Amino acid sequence: MSNKIIIAIDGFSSCGKSTLAKSLAAKLEYVFIDTGAMYRAIALYFLRNNISFTDNQAIYKALQEINLKFEYNVTSLKSDMILNGENVEQLIREMKVSAKVSEVAAIAAVRDFAVSQQQAMGKQKGIVMDGRDIGTVVFPNAELKIFVTADPLIRANRRLLELRVTHPDITLEAVSENLQHRDLIDSTREHSPLKQAADAVVLDNSNITKEAQFEIALNWALEKIKQAK
Ligand code: DC
Repeated sequence: MSNKIIIAIDGFSSCGKSTLAKSLAAKLEYVFIDTGAMYRAIALYFLRNNISFTDNQAIYKALQEINLKFEYNVTSLKSDMILNGENVEQLIREMKVSAKVSEVAAIAAVRDFAVSQQQAMGKQKGIVMDGRDIGTVVFPNAELKIFVTADPLIRANRRLLELRVTHPDITLEAVSENLQHRDLIDSTREHSPLKQAADAVVLDNSNITKEAQFEIALNWALEKIKQAK
């Protein structure tokens, strides 16, 4: 009998959730799913096709035309987001998408579309999924729920370093504004707002290294796996 579990990782933007989820999945030989990439790909599709975020009919029609898939990339050792057959992994990280994705992720029909696919991916367990509503809505019965937090300025600086690689002119102010804007929408929206699940364990990584964060989370995971039947 397999004792694979579901690990749900939630938290604000740019808290290092994906880094943690990716390394845990690699260590445990689990599947890693970055659910933010799904909302980003949907936002990209809406922007490209001028879908109004308030036109429900257009949204329903657009969702029927969207096919999302993850494809493993042997170079980056993580899955790339494939939107209707096109690899959009780089495009969905652009500021143009970041600026609008929270509005798209707040639409009920978009959430239903993404959440049902995410739940299907977890049927066999053995999954590490990161997002905003994984422990509260997608997998309320996940064996391990981690809520990651970090100081806002530290988060903005980390994100700035990442974005500077492709956008040398980007400022800390612009990054910080985008993070605050997304956090506000993500945590105050009507449908599945970001909040800590009552049974989640909090991991504040403001002053610890990635390696230390990984060790803490891995120990929690191993403990839960031991208890799983
Ligand atoms: O994790 P990220 O920054 O790539 O997420 C992009 C956006 O998608 C973010 O503004 C919040 C939203 N999101 C969500 O609402 N629910 C999830 N499970 C994952 C992301």
